[in-house]
Amino acid sequence: MPPRNWVEISRGALRRNQDYVRRRLTPPTALCAVVKADAYGHGAAACAEVFAHGGAEWLAVTSPEEGARLRVNGTSQVPVLVLAGFAPGDVAALLEYRLTPAVWDAEQIAWLAAGMAKCRPAGTLAVHLKVDTGMGRLGVTSAQETALRQALERAPQIRVEAVFSHLAAAEIPAGEGNEAQHREFLAALERWSRWAPGLAGRNGRSGHLLNGEGALRYPGWGCGMARVGLALYGYSAQPEHAAHLSPALSWKTHVIALKDLPAGHGVGYGPLYRAPRPMRVATIAAGYADGYRRQFSPGAQVLIGGIPAPVVGAISMDLTSVDVTEVPAVRLGDEVTLLGGSGTARVTAIELARLARTIPYEILCGLSARVERVYRD
Ligand SMILES: Cc1ncc(COP(=O)(O)O)c(C=O)c1O
Repeated sequence: MPPRNWVEISRGALRRNQDYVRRRLTPPTALCAVVKADAYGHGAAACAEVFAHGGAEWLAVTSPEEGARLRVNGTSQVPVLVLAGFAPGDVAALLEYRLTPAVWDAEQIAWLAAGMAKCRPAGTLAVHLKVDTGMGRLGVTSAQETALRQALERAPQIRVEAVFSHLAAAEIPAGEGNEAQHREFLAALERWSRWAPGLAGRNGRSGHLLNGEGALRYPGWGCGMARVGLALYGYSAQPEHAAHLSPALSWKTHVIALKDLPAGHGVGYGPLYRAPRPMRVATIAAGYADGYRRQFSPGAQVLIGGIPAPVVGAISMDLTSVDVTEVPAVRLGDEVTLLGGSGTARVTAIELARLARTIPYEILCGLSARVERVYRD
């Protein structure tokens, strides 16, 4: 059965984006490909395979559940970092699926130790220790460090393999906050390195701070690994890098109704929109239940045969209306591009994000599960 709307993901674009990012990293910085949230909507299993095959040394996910799913779907060799927390009941899965949790709290160490005593008494577990360098979200603060250190000393089966943190605003040029976080990070890395033999200290080889924008902006910051997400999928807020990246995902649908409406006729729900002149309107098979958000109208354009056509009226759950008066050749069943295209005739997640007053991450992650993912080489 053909899907109502679908996304096409170019493995070639993913590979080329990864190669570009890789070339920007100062050796021997490892690449951690971030495939959380179903690889930002691109499909975690398929993207993990591309990135691992292309030489990513690590993968990163949100939760033990996402990590377990990667393992079940065939990602067997590459280490997987669980970035955003776990519950006491997740410890068996962390061990079974060889996942590396991020930790920042003494309580988490107690959970891990208790779970390990139950499931694998003789085993060891590597963790990455997250420090809060200014984001105020995850990560141990300096006031919490002593308690965390004591918990780790009581649990020698848990080994701190790396210290890491996260920049709050790497996409902002010359962000003063970035410099401050970098300084904080190096200081924390040095403190933890004095305590944990094996952590490398100031050269940062066992630390990681940078996301994709950070890695592209600060290649000289010399961390051991960069955790890159959005740039691998083809987007960067830095134009000099964006020019070398290609959005890997295109989103397509079909025309399912076509009609000529007189001036003044309503289009879609509510008294919101009336045709200002005689108008040819195409109804296309995608709506907010697919992730094509109501805020995209007015303002969004779709492409039909490469010709831009404006969305009109309110976007519904499953349907969107498009003014195709200027696309005279349009026929029922024609393919419509919601995201993608090439050259000047293209729609990007950045443009849609602007209309919805959000960021491209949210547009890509907002593609719903019912949108079929199709992979192209
Ligand atoms: C801790 C952490 N590291 C790295 C990333 C990847 O960031 P980006 O997609 O901006 O490269 C994220 C994404 O949210 C993150 O939460």
